[in-house]
Amino acid sequence: MTLEKLAEQKTDAHRSRNQVSRSGNSSRAASSENINSRILEIENHIHDKHILGQIGNTPLLQIRKLFKLNDSVEIYAKAEWFNPGGSVKDRAALSMILEAVRSGKLTGDRTIIDATSGNTGIAYAMIGSALGYKVTLALPSNASQERKNALLAYGAEIIYTDPLSGTDGAQQKVRELVANNPEKYYYPDQYNNPANWKAHYDTTAVEIWEQTGHRVTHFVAGLGTTGTFVGTSRRLKELNPGIVCVAFQPDSPLHGLEGLKHLATSIVPGIYDPTIADFQIAISTEEAYEMVNRLAREEGMFVGISAGAAMAASLKVASQLKSGVVVTVFPDGGARYGVEHLR
Ligand SMILES: Cc1ncc(COP(=O)(O)O)c(C=O)c1O
Repeated sequence: MTLEKLAEQKTDAHRSRNQVSRSGNSSRAASSENINSRILEIENHIHDKHILGQIGNTPLLQIRKLFKLNDSVEIYAKAEWFNPGGSVKDRAALSMILEAVRSGKLTGDRTIIDATSGNTGIAYAMIGSALGYKVTLALPSNASQERKNALLAYGAEIIYTDPLSGTDGAQQKVRELVANNPEKYYYPDQYNNPANWKAHYDTTAVEIWEQTGHRVTHFVAGLGTTGTFVGTSRRLKELNPGIVCVAFQPDSPLHGLEGLKHLATSIVPGIYDPTIADFQIAISTEEAYEMVNRLAREEGMFVGISAGAAMAASLKVASQLKSGVVVTVFPDGGARYGVEHLR
């Protein structure tokens, strides 16, 4: 969380407190006071000595050995495994939870529930633990054991769903549970929640802009919920309309790029905006594995499989350029995955 963002939130809270005191409706004012005091309590948590204050502001690492085309083309990656929950999804999860508290949808008696291939679940579980909310997650039973262990360690409840139905099946299960018991749960629904992409609009994009000294020319990211690509690209294009935004996705419905979607055969997330990408690239699981291995052996970066795919996509973009600054996102680290793909 940047200081700028924190200051913005404090101003928002201050503004809504003022609105409450001007309101003539005392019961609405009372519930708004509860929300505001909860927001203040959370804001007091999110400072530099608190675990949630460590979300965002990740390093931007230069790829030095895998790419040697010429000195005029540079490739950088946001090292998102430096987030306290270990992935890029800490940003979206915190944004959705703060928005839900602010809007009054997440009260202390509700359980946060969602469908996730793992990283968002870990982020909810960590944030839920830090802020005192119960967390229930539906995930395909073939999600990696390492991820399941992390969820359990943070105290989340897991509901396993059919691996053949992927994250779509897990989403279906959550919808059923919420429909049957709407008072019990708060469902952030990361596929359709604007606070997901706004997290990247407010933080990831601004960090990339500052960390490259405003020199970024190309942004490359994979499509899962699509929050990272949509939010970061939207802001970067506002900062400089000349920035080229490239989305990538798996090249087939049956793929090993955990966290990413083959959109042609999946439920397209509501937050996806098909007009943003200047180009689309398809990446195979094998290409991603190859890059995971090379990043570990040649760059000292042990990353997850979608990060390998991000590297493969960035190399394709960079190899077309005479000059440019290509920035991508490495969503998580390699320790969260099995070892089958490692040489
Ligand atoms: C490992 C991994 N890579 C990539 C993504 C895609 O990010 P987004 O959901 O912002 O599109 C995710 C999302 O869960 C993920 O877990």
